Amino acid sequence: MRYFSSSLFLLCLFSQASFAQDVAAGKNAFQECVACHSIKPGENLLGPSLAGVYGRQAGTVEGFRYSSALKKSGITWDESSLDQYIANPQALVPGSRMPYSGMADEAERKNLIAYLKTLN
Ligand code: HEC
Repeated sequence: MRYFSSSLFLLCLFSQASFAQDVAAGKNAFQECVACHSIKPGENLLGPSLAGVYGRQAGTVEGFRYSSALKKSGITWDESSLDQYIANPQALVPGSRMPYSGMADEAERKNLIAYLKTLN
């Protein structure tokens, strides 16, 4: 029992540490987005604020003029939709106006999404 609980403890420590690493790497990857996206609520630049983006309905930040393609997409931003949009915005939402050609590296996208989740 003693052995069991201490290894469980180590496992927790380990998964927390690797989560923190993902988030740190994701914050780095976010450098590709900062020119156009603020993480401050309500601060829209060339792109809408990404504060609280995880779990949000696409095209709903107040005061930002979205393309009608994104507004009508019916997407909720979750792991799968964010991954597809960041990999290739035009493929997921044809007619979307995000001038970004896409992030090819899957591991990098995963880390970036881990970081975006912390903005809620
Ligand atoms: C050159 C500017 C630019 C860059 C770089 C950029 N974006 Fe965007 N982004 C936009 C614009 C503009 C829109 C709105 C698109 C539309 O209305 O179709 C947008 C929309 C989005 C949305 C949808 C938000 C919502 O409220 O529905 C997400 C998510 C997003 N971007 C994530 C990212 C991420 C993550 C990166 C970095 C990998 C990134 N963007 C890089 C300009 C940019």
